[in-house]
Parts: sequence; C-alpha cells; structure tokens
Amino acid sequence: MRTIVTTSHKPDPRSVAIAGWAAEVLNTEFVDRSRMSLDDLKIKCNTDNIMVVANGDIKLYSSRGEYFFHPSMSVPRIKAIRQGKSDHMVAAMALQPGDSVLDCTLGLGSDAIVASFIAGPEGQVTGIEAVPEIALIVKHGMANFRTESQPLKSAMVRIQVECALYEQYLAGLPDQAFDIVYFDPMFRHPRMKSSSMEPLRGIVKDDPLSPDAVREAIRVAGKRVVMKENSFSKEFARLGFNSIVGGRYSPVAFGVIEKRGQDYE
Ligand SMILES: C[S@@+](CC[C@H](N)C(=O)[O-])C[C@H]1O[C@@H](n2cnc3c(N)ncnc32)[C@H](O)[C@@H]1O
Repeated sequence: MRTIVTTSHKPDPRSVAIAGWAAEVLNTEFVDRSRMSLDDLKIKCNTDNIMVVANGDIKLYSSRGEYFFHPSMSVPRIKAIRQGKSDHMVAAMALQPGDSVLDCTLGLGSDAIVASFIAGPEGQVTGIEAVPEIALIVKHGMANFRTESQPLKSAMVRIQVECALYEQYLAGLPDQAFDIVYFDPMFRHPRMKSSSMEPLRGIVKDDPLSPDAVREAIRVAGKRVVMKENSFSKEFARLGFNSIVGGRYSPVAFGVIEKRGQDYE
C-alpha cells in the first residue's frame, strides 16, 4: 500500500520542507493537510499509510498504529555497557573500537546504535534497510533526535543509513569491505508482539535469510558474520552459524561465523 506525506494542521516552514523532502525521497504525493483529519485523508487518498511531519519530527500512521523514531533499547544497553556490563550482540561480534560494521537489517536502528557506540569515531557503521519509509524515518530520526546524552547522539549521527536490499548492496561490495556483517531478520517464529515493531508489521520485509546471502556476507566480512534469532531457532543450523552466543535464559541468541583462520574460498 502506498504511503502519502502530509504535515500537521499548522506546520512550521521546516516541517513543510521536511515533508517535501520525504515525499520526494519516497517518490509519492505530498498532500496539503488543510483542516482534514487523518481518517478523512485516508479515505480521500485511499491509503492506510500516512506520514505526518510536525515540529520537525516524522511519524508514520498505519492500520496497526503509529511509528516514530526512538533509540529505544539502545539507551539502557549503552548505559549498561558504560557500567561495565556485557552485551550479547557486542560479544558475538567481538566488536572493538575502530571496527566497521555492516548492519544488513537496520530496522529501527537500536542494534546499529549500540554497534556505533562501541565502534566509536574511528569505526564505521552502515545500516541497510529495504523499506523506504523505515529507512527515511530512522535516517531523519538519528540525525535529529534530541538528547542530553552526547555519547548516544554521537553514536547515532555517525551511522550511515542506506535504503537498499542487502542482497544487492552486498553484491556491490569488495571482499572484506567491513569487519563485521550483521543480520537481524524478522524471526521465523515471532517471540511476542514487539510494541515498537507492531505498527510496521504490514510494512517490514520479512523474507528469510538465504544461504546465498550468507555466502556473500562471508565474502564481504573481514572478521565475522553474526545473525540474531530465537535462542532455539533452526535457522542457525540451516545457515551454517555453528557457534552461538547468548545468555542461558535469554530468549534470543546470536549465531557467529568466524572468518579468520578459515578457508571460505
Ligand atoms: C527485525 S528488524 C531489525 C531490527 C534492528 N536490528 C533493530 O535493532 O531495530 C528487520 C529489518 O530488516 C529489514 N529487511 C528485511 N529484509 C531485508 C533485505 N533483504 N534488505 C534490507 N533490509 C531488509 C526489514 O524491513 C526490517 O526493518
């Protein structure tokens, strides 16, 4: 279903400019809101998906709810890391300051923000997202999110967001272009209703990861390929992730394919 773009009833000039930019990026209509309610706009434009720009922020309204950018779980995770606690994703990546990470499934960006925090200014995190609406909101959100936390802000603004299919993006990269290639595909058996993903359920791309994509990721990774899934998922074995990192009682785990010292020719 197509997404249209509009503003609040009395938008400031910056919001109008952002809405125009969003409509151009999404190659869709910018609809003058006038005094119309969102329900009236949905009927008039025959769509459930409306992107609204208000006070410089972007919100997506779908039939399943509303989504706007928030760093969500990255905030307590970064706080815990700064207190010296471990993070399973960071451990699975064996992530070090200065590393480069290709996050093939950027989604709402939480994992990428944590990776960027650890990789630091000497490192580089690039996030790939197939769905243009999500890529746009997350890109705008990371660049403009208002926070007092400088480490969080710096981690977000350093992330390079690309709207693309990871299959195509990987194919265009040279061997060992990134230290770590990361996948967090939509779980084959969703664990529970995730409140932050719920408004996006009808929009996200939820195809399974393919063995071909994993092969390409191994070629592009200098150090490791990592995949997140349910702890007992058969996806790990199907795709060749033989080493698993995760807490004993954690519902999610991280499969690791270590590149160094192994022959993947
Ligand atoms: C479970 S979410 C990732 C959540 C993310 N790790 C986070 O911290 O918010 C998976 C995301 O990958 C995207 N995706 C799925 N297949 C893709 C593909 N082939 N190329 C690029 N993005 C893809 C989906 O649209 C979805 O937004």
